[in-house]
Amino acid sequence: MARKGKVTVVGAGFYGSTTALRLAEYDIFETVVLTDIVEGKPEGLALDMNQSRSIEGFETKVIGATTTPDGAGYEATANSDVVVITAGLPRKPGMSRMDLIGVNAGIVRGVAENIAKHSPKAVIIVVSNPLDEMTALTQIASNFPHNQVMGQAGMLDTARFTNFVAEKLGVLTSSVKTLTLGSHGDTMVPVPSRCTVDGKPLSDLLSQTEIDELVDRTRNGGAEVVALLKTGSAYYAPSAAAARMAKAVIEDSGEVMPVCAWVDGQYGISGVYLGVEAEIGKTGIRKVVESALTPSEVEALKVAAEAVRAKQADVKEL
Ligand code: LAC
Repeated sequence: MARKGKVTVVGAGFYGSTTALRLAEYDIFETVVLTDIVEGKPEGLALDMNQSRSIEGFETKVIGATTTPDGAGYEATANSDVVVITAGLPRKPGMSRMDLIGVNAGIVRGVAENIAKHSPKAVIIVVSNPLDEMTALTQIASNFPHNQVMGQAGMLDTARFTNFVAEKLGVLTSSVKTLTLGSHGDTMVPVPSRCTVDGKPLSDLLSQTEIDELVDRTRNGGAEVVALLKTGSAYYAPSAAAARMAKAVIEDSGEVMPVCAWVDGQYGISGVYLGVEAEIGKTGIRKVVESALTPSEVEALKVAAEAVRAKQADVKEL
């Protein structure tokens, strides 16, 4: 099998290291680079992952590199095709994603500048929180074209919604299709009109109250995990989402995924990073796909856009 390309995962916490392992196990990349500022941690994890190769049957080589905020160590990431930025702090119980904005902005800005210097052609997938704002900041700090920078949120929120619907109805997750748009936060917009089970509308199978409960649980899906874990936040579903997006980029697959992308006129919204459906390929976002929504869903998307627009204006100063 022909492996190609290089993907870098910045940050070797649970989210980053699990993403790196998933990417390596796909066995489609030549190289996966894992970096962290904790000396020896990415090298140790890479060594461990490489030692699993003969058991799990993949040949992708994992390279660990310790980096410093002023840019030392980034040579190992040079000429990456895709970069997943997980750097930053996760939430503690009771915190909102927005509570992380000050501290994570400083971290993500530095990472984005260093990545841009060493991998000017990379497609960047941001997962650091608050997601929509850190994605906007990464585009500003990297000075990359908007299509080259996207955020991971909709894939995760959609997967959570799908899981809740499947569990509620006792059906296979593969028979459920759901969609969430908007922000990765309070103004997340789950889209029940686009949710089906074996092709049947969700509203034929559940009452409005039941759907509202699942929508609410989806909107608070990250906080529910944080509250249970007590330290750290979710990483199995988030890493699966980020890894799939990186795969779509390197394979130039053209898959349509819900992601945080630069919106420029779609749904009457412009000039903001927002959760929408988009076609993903080797250039990043090939195009934002505008789909049929109900008037109230479009309204909710506009509310989300204005909420994140206000915060994204703030990040320029952080
Ligand atoms: C979550 C974090 C990763 O939703 O934003 O779990």
